[in-house]
Amino acid sequence: MKSVLNGKKVLITAGPTREYLDPVRYLTNESSGKMGYAIARELINRKAEVFLISGAVTISKESIPNVVTVNSAIEMLAACKGFFREVDIAIFAAAVADYRPKVFHEQKIKKSDQVTTMEFIKNPDIASEFGKVKSGKQLSFGFALETTAMTENASKKMIEKNFDAIVINSPGKDEGFGHDTNRISVLAKDHNLKTYPLKSKIDLAVDIVNEIELSWIQKMSRKE
Ligand code: PMT
Repeated sequence: MKSVLNGKKVLITAGPTREYLDPVRYLTNESSGKMGYAIARELINRKAEVFLISGAVTISKESIPNVVTVNSAIEMLAACKGFFREVDIAIFAAAVADYRPKVFHEQKIKKSDQVTTMEFIKNPDIASEFGKVKSGKQLSFGFALETTAMTENASKKMIEKNFDAIVINSPGKDEGFGHDTNRISVLAKDHNLKTYPLKSKIDLAVDIVNEIELSWIQKMSRKE
């Protein structure tokens, strides 16, 4: 059966950002991009037109036609902005650094420079920027990586960033960053919470895209 996502334009962020201190050193996190890439591939299976904005990852980009690779949060925002107005759906699966070093050292920092402290400044919030300009016809799904008060914290993020739903996960032995498996819940704006068991990220991508399809159908039926 033809998916309602057939022909829809979808923006996805995936992977980590790198916030450089000097030309050879950066701050980052353990995101592998596996979750975001699995969603991109599932959307492509359903014939959506996917624009994947990816941090530096080692996953194959084969069969994903539109991938823009970036390093920092600022670069990721700039790449996403080009798609903000034209996409039907945006999915924010990237682990974006909230802060970056205030000063970028043009030359490699030497031991003799005795740099022992570092100041940080806030990065732009890509999902929030989309949330501010999002039209009534656009749908957005965010992610929340939580360690405590998961549903409560995720719910706050969903409201602040104007998501239609948020996928909640946490770091752990076989879930979250880097693993092939994950354990998720999906919280919708109407407070409906669906919890999925531990599964491969490829299988969870099917569940997440099913949730996106359902939200899209609901959104469209409210507009008519
Ligand atoms: O890549 P994997 O190894 O497969 O791991 C998957 C994952 C754990 C990275 C993924 O499932 C996940 O949870 N991604 C979001 C992680 C995160 O940064 O969550 P957050 O709670 O800090 O951010 C909330 C939301 O705002 C996210 O949708 C995030 O992409 C977005 N955000 C955050 C900060 C920022 N500056 N810009 C953003 O767009």
